Amino acid sequence: MSSSPAPVFYKTSAACDAMAARLGLDLVKKWLPNSEQLYVFFEQGRLGIGLAPTQRENPVAVDFVHALQHRHPGKELLIKALGGKRPTVVDATAGLGRDSFVMATNGCTVTMCERMPVVAALLEDGLMRANISIDTMDIAARMSLVKSGAADYLEQLSAIDCPDVVYLDPMFPVSGKSALVKKEMRLFHSLVGLDEDSAALLDIALQRARHRVVVKRPPKAPYLAERKPQLSVTGKAVRFDIYPLKAFAK
Ligand SMILES: C[S@@+](CC[C@H](N)C(=O)[O-])C[C@H]1O[C@@H](n2cnc3c(N)ncnc32)[C@H](O)[C@@H]1O
Repeated sequence: MSSSPAPVFYKTSAACDAMAARLGLDLVKKWLPNSEQLYVFFEQGRLGIGLAPTQRENPVAVDFVHALQHRHPGKELLIKALGGKRPTVVDATAGLGRDSFVMATNGCTVTMCERMPVVAALLEDGLMRANISIDTMDIAARMSLVKSGAADYLEQLSAIDCPDVVYLDPMFPVSGKSALVKKEMRLFHSLVGLDEDSAALLDIALQRARHRVVVKRPPKAPYLAERKPQLSVTGKAVRFDIYPLKAFAK
């Protein structure tokens, strides 16, 4: 669960009133004197979350156009872990959509589930911009967003609509003092909190995936729900645990 103060919406234009109301956030017109306070803001046509301008380092936003030009750590391993040829995927813990975008870039059709309204709003905003950029529109056409919990979404799918792969990347405690983790990302993580129901989500994923479930973990982390995968692919910064259910057709 979340351990940081609720974010507030900083008003930059009249359009912000409706956005703040939709997210259930207080609308403010002044920066509050609290260095840990996160603000949602709509600036230069983009939704972001970050500290007050004087303290901002790296606001968190979803930018798939930018992602296309930058290497994503563990990309090749992720594609290897999925198996199959362009499988359909439910990314049950979509977050900022970085892994979903990698999968969609490789031809997968990806349904992203994100239950935190603020995170889902960032994702929706990023997807909207990706849909109108010439560089990303083909990729974005393979991505869709479900703004609710993945367990309910997976459970209501008819057998024919179940995905080939369910992908899970539940929040894992980050080493908070690491200089590599920027302050805003750390605050953002504590806003989202730990995904304490991820063991139950793994159970549902194993019932609903047709071919396999893939779980992302830090390299030395224990297995999710202490459930040993049949195989893992491990890189320097990340490990993918694979729970195969049925072989892909050759
Ligand atoms: C570690 S982040 C995922 C990061 C993501 N893989 C990426 O590439 O950006 C985990 C996210 O999953 C979301 N989440 C966790 N459990 C969920 C569930 N059962 N349904 C929907 N979203 C969930 C959290 O709100 C959080 O935003």
